[in-house]
Amino acid sequence: MKRIVITGAGGQIGSELVTSLRERYGTEAVMATDIRPLPDAVSNDGPTAILDAQDYNAVAQTALAHKADTIFHLAAILSAVGEENPSKAYDINMGTLRSVLEVARQEKYSVFTPSSIAVFGPTSPKEKTPQNTVMRPTTMYGITKVAGELLCDYYHRKYGVDTRGVRYPGLISYGAPPGGGTTDWAVDIFFQAVEKNRYTCFLDKNTTLPMMYMPDAIEASIQLMEADPNRLVHRNAFNVTAMHLNPQTLANEIKQHLPNFTIEYKVDQHREAIAQSWPRTIDDRAAKHEWDWSPKYNLKSMTAEMITELSHSLN
Ligand SMILES: NC(=O)c1ccc[n+]([C@@H]2O[C@H](COP(=O)([O-])OP(=O)(O)OC[C@H]3O[C@@H](n4cnc5c(N)ncnc54)[C@H](O)[C@@H]3O)[C@@H](O)[C@H]2O)c1
Repeated sequence: MKRIVITGAGGQIGSELVTSLRERYGTEAVMATDIRPLPDAVSNDGPTAILDAQDYNAVAQTALAHKADTIFHLAAILSAVGEENPSKAYDINMGTLRSVLEVARQEKYSVFTPSSIAVFGPTSPKEKTPQNTVMRPTTMYGITKVAGELLCDYYHRKYGVDTRGVRYPGLISYGAPPGGGTTDWAVDIFFQAVEKNRYTCFLDKNTTLPMMYMPDAIEASIQLMEADPNRLVHRNAFNVTAMHLNPQTLANEIKQHLPNFTIEYKVDQHREAIAQSWPRTIDDRAAKHEWDWSPKYNLKSMTAEMITELSHSLN
């Protein structure tokens, strides 16, 4: 049985990952931490702590006190927010990862660190972007994610730390709000559709990006951490995807459920430029081959579930 510390557990992914990990390994085995107070759903059920993951001593003390063997490291500044304050994005994304990896090295913990499709840039192939290809990102977020993948590889190769990670695409969920990424539109559109029957989108209608529904992202993270290490070649940078969406396609699918839904476009050039620098579709055959990755949700099943869940919680 694992004993887990999660950093950044109050975010869009963390708040759902905590629940799934507690179901899997037991409530007391999963310590949820964040720099800010955690949502009630997380803090009312199982151990929690306020933790600045940049603080090496605090990470070490929290993990030792919990008798951890694994850290899921989710604390980060995301792409759009990172471009507003690149220096802060660099400090937090690199500083938190460094302290987590150092504690893991000392204590022989396993570490899961999400990377992102933001590791790719304008010179990467846009269609079926390969697992191994040109990575020259143009955002500070992407730069920290490339550096993070390399640092995790380094700790594995040099010190034998069991580091693993996936390059999440844009993630769609109805739980915690998204944290300021370029793909936030694909979450906002559902909330606005259910509440107001209309949405003003900040990306162009034809801007296609790789996406995934949150239950698949959670399953991918847990499945990779449980995978047989002897099968893993790539470890810290697996491409994973489930669908490839642009605002027009998603709006059309939402209209199948809410026929009066309308969408208009007011393109934010900053976020549009970030999206244009990323892949449209990606090749995730390495994840399929090395740890049997396979998403359960497609556009139809995800949209149906999002609308049903939000209709219950918002109306
Ligand atoms: N959500 C997505 O679509 C997506 C896509 C690709 C990759 N990712 C990656 O997944 C991870 C989690 O993303 P998310 O969407 O849940 O982000 P989020 O912004 O929703 O949550 C991040 C959490 O980190 C916390 N945090 C920030 N600084 C901290 C610090 N110094 N110490 C401790 N906690 C701190 C924040 O309070 C927040 O709760 C990140 O590494 C992100 O880059 C997310």
